[in-house]
Amino acid sequence: MDTSKNILLKSLFIAGTDTDVGKTYITAGLAVVLRKMGVDVGVMKPFAAGDAQKKGYKSEDVEILSSAAQTCDPENLVNPQFFLIPASPYTAWKKLKIKPKVSTVLSSFKKLSKLHKVILVEGMGGIMTPILKDYYITNLIKEMKIPTVIVTRSKIGTVNHTVMTVKMCEKYKIPIKGIIINDFESGYPIKDLTRDLQNLTGIKVLGSIPFIQDMSDASLNQIFKKNIDLKLLLK
Ligand SMILES: Nc1ncnc2c1ncn2[C@@H]1O[C@H](COP(=O)(O)OP(=O)(O)OP(=O)(O)O)[C@@H](O)[C@H]1O
Ligand SMILES: [Mg+2]
Repeated sequence: MDTSKNILLKSLFIAGTDTDVGKTYITAGLAVVLRKMGVDVGVMKPFAAGDAQKKGYKSEDVEILSSAAQTCDPENLVNPQFFLIPASPYTAWKKLKIKPKVSTVLSSFKKLSKLHKVILVEGMGGIMTPILKDYYITNLIKEMKIPTVIVTRSKIGTVNHTVMTVKMCEKYKIPIKGIIINDFESGYPIKDLTRDLQNLTGIKVLGSIPFIQDMSDASLNQIFKKNIDLKLLLK
């Protein structure tokens, strides 16, 4: 059933407070929920890095995201650049002498946007991960002209990281749709963390995601439907 007709949908940039906070898992869950709502959702990971997979997409993140969205878009659009070392695009550039191709990323995003109604774009590392000198993830989001969702963890230390992330988005005038707490490790009680993050940042916490045992479609759909305020996310 197409329940997406009444919703004014926009692409979203899924940013994180750090690497390994769960951007891929959260983006995958959102892709499944949107798809189950009848939304034609695409995914993108502009820059990826690390060891390349031997089969399928080079990036494991792209593999997870594409499988969640059930898309098979060309790799050069979904992941325009892959660096073979685990580092920021800037550091990879300095080390490998391969310059990050921002204009290719932007044109790929435009092309993907024509193929799908909504694109979920997964960031790389945190919001200030450097791509070029004086050009960070924040600059990329700004050029994509899309709002962001901030994924944060519940582990102690998260308040500092989340406040810094929100402040930087504000400095760059990036609209923030909300914060999603990825509660997959022990840390703050979610009620306390939600209250404090909302009071400190003025940004709505859209929900929290527990430890995911099962990455199947049915499981992700159920977890994200139950735990995320989708109305607010899609408003
Ligand atoms: N909700 C969750 N339930 C279970 N495991 C999780 C959850 N979120 C994250 N993880 C675990 O943490 C790891 C890192 O999560 P994920 O790959 O989503 O982080 P990321 O922010 O996308 O990292 P990167 O910066 O490398 O893209 C996952 O491989 C998984 O093992
Ligand atoms: Mg990831």
